[in-house]
Amino acid sequence: MAKKTIEQVDVASKRVLMRVDFNVPLDDQGKITDDRRIQQALPSIRSVIDRKGKLILMSHLGRPEGKGYEPQFSLKPAADRLRELLGGVKVIFPGNDCIGPEAAAAVEAMNDGEVVLLENLRFHQGEKKGDSAFAAKLAAYGDIYCNDAFGTAHRNDASMLAVPQAMQGKPRVAGRLLQKELAYLSDTINNAAKPFVAVLGGAKVSDKLGALRNLMGKVDTILVGGAMAYTFLKALGYEVGSSLVQGGMLKQAQEILDLAAASRTDLILPQDHVCGKQISHMTPVEVHEETIPQGWMGLDIGPKSTTQFAQKLLEAKTIVWNGPMGVFEPQPFDVGTKQVWKAIATATSRGAVSVVGGGDTAAAVEAFGMADQFSHISTGGGASLEMLEGKSFDSVAVLDDA
Ligand code: 3PG
Ligand code: MG
Repeated sequence: MAKKTIEQVDVASKRVLMRVDFNVPLDDQGKITDDRRIQQALPSIRSVIDRKGKLILMSHLGRPEGKGYEPQFSLKPAADRLRELLGGVKVIFPGNDCIGPEAAAAVEAMNDGEVVLLENLRFHQGEKKGDSAFAAKLAAYGDIYCNDAFGTAHRNDASMLAVPQAMQGKPRVAGRLLQKELAYLSDTINNAAKPFVAVLGGAKVSDKLGALRNLMGKVDTILVGGAMAYTFLKALGYEVGSSLVQGGMLKQAQEILDLAAASRTDLILPQDHVCGKQISHMTPVEVHEETIPQGWMGLDIGPKSTTQFAQKLLEAKTIVWNGPMGVFEPQPFDVGTKQVWKAIATATSRGAVSVVGGGDTAAAVEAFGMADQFSHISTGGGASLEMLEGKSFDSVAVLDDA
C-alpha cells in the first residue's frame, strides 16, 4: 500500500517532526567517515524548509547505555555536517537531552524555515523500549510526523512507532529517502526483469538464511561468496582447511542447498579460493580448488569463480548484492569483491537495475570509490537485509495511506 508522502502535506509554518537515521560512522576523533545518510536525507529536509516549515529532526547514533548523555555518542558531528550542507539555513542543536527544557524551548522558539536537531534519542532508555511516556514528549513537538529513517525502519523504537501512534489524527507521512529505498528494494525483488541474479556474501550463513529462503524461486541465480560459502562447502563434504565455518549451521546450510535443488534457482558456490594462513597482508597466498589444505583458509573467491560470477552478472537484468566476497581489507583479498563490483557496474551501464545492500557491502563499494555506478545503494544495513528477507515494517505500516 502506497503511503502519504511529505510532498503531499502543506508544511508552511507547521512543525514537522522528522525521524532521520543520522547513525553515521565516526573515527576516533569523532569525525564522520561516511556522511551518506545525512546527504540522502537532504531532499526531505529541503522539501520542508523550502516550503517554510519548521523542521525538528530526531535520530539515534550508536548504542549508548540509555542512562543519559555520553559525549562519544553525541549527534554534534551530524549537526555540524548538516549545517555545512545546508549553507545559510539556521540549524539549532539544543542542549544534551532531546526532551529536556532547552530542547523544548528551542522548538518553541523556532521560525519558519529553521531546523532543530535533537540530541541522540537513545540517551533515554525509553527510545529502545518504545516507551509511551517518552514518545508522548517527542510527539508534542510536532504537527506532522515524517519517517525518513530507512536505516532504522526495522526497529520498533519509540521514535519509529510509539511517536507516530501518539500523533494519530495528525499527518504521518513518508520522507523521500524512505520512499526511494522501499521502491527500489521491493520493486526490484517483486517485479524484476530477468535474468535476476543475487550475490550474497559476508562471514555468516546465519545472517543470510532469511534472504536465501526468500530469494529462492524468485531469482534465477544466487552467487555465494565470502566466508559463508565455507559452511555450505563443508556441508557438502569438502575439506575447507581452517576456513571460517559455522559448525552449528551445517544442517540449515544443507536445507538451503536442498531448497535450491528443488527450485528453479541456481545456487552457485565458489569453485576456487584465494587462501592465506591468517587474515593479514603479510600472509603467504595460494589459490586452491576443491580441497583447501589444513592450515590454509579461504579469504577470497578464486579467479575461476570470479570469472564465472562476472559472466552471470554481465547477463543479468536485475541484480541485488549484499555482502563482500572476501576479506576486502587487507589486500590482496579484495580482488573478488572488486571484480564483482566491476561486473555489476558494467551490467548497470548496459541497462540492468542494481541494488546494493548497506552495511559492509556499501562500505566496500565506498572504499573502492565510484559508488554512483549502481542504480541504488541502500542506506540501510539490517533494514535492507530484512527487505531481502521479504519482511515488512511496522514503522512503515503506521504511516497514513496515500
Ligand atoms: C543501523 O545502522 O543499523 C541503524 O542505524 C540501526 O541501528 P541499530 O542497529 O543500532 O538499531
Ligand atoms: Mg544495525
